[in-house]
Amino acid sequence: MALSKTIQTALNDQIGREFYSAYLYLSMSAYCASRNLPGFAHWMMLQAKEEAGHAMKLYGFIEDRSGRVVLQAVDKPPSDFKSPLELVTKVREHEEMVTGEINNLYALAASEHDYATQIFLEWFLTEQVEEEKNSTLLVERLRMAGENQSALLLIDREIGSRTAAS
Ligand code: FEO
Repeated sequence: MALSKTIQTALNDQIGREFYSAYLYLSMSAYCASRNLPGFAHWMMLQAKEEAGHAMKLYGFIEDRSGRVVLQAVDKPPSDFKSPLELVTKVREHEEMVTGEINNLYALAASEHDYATQIFLEWFLTEQVEEEKNSTLLVERLRMAGENQSALLLIDREIGSRTAAS
């Protein structure tokens, strides 16, 4: 069964939002590099690549369902942040927003009895649990570090060892 136009449009819009996420994290990576925090820059760069991967998963699914991929404009991301804590707080807020988007997509697929799209989106729902968990951990650890620069450098070194996940 081919994708309905409504689902196709919603998935195409999500491709744009995933690329925006990639763009946002790339911008954050550049900011972290400029603040001499190579560990954070590395973490954000991997995150950006993951997001591009999410976009391409959607892209592939639309084509698998004989749909038409139509790419949308990607907004300009912010480039300046007050502090690493403000930056990771924005990461968490952003991921919470993405969870809402995926939930909406899932509800739309359910309302159209599009079971294949629902099953496809389950991967994203699981991924969002991980995304929120990881960003919350970063926020809490930076809160604990407070103004302590040594603690910040320690966290930077630790997260610099992140390896690619999904
Ligand atoms: Fe594509 Fe970070 O969710």
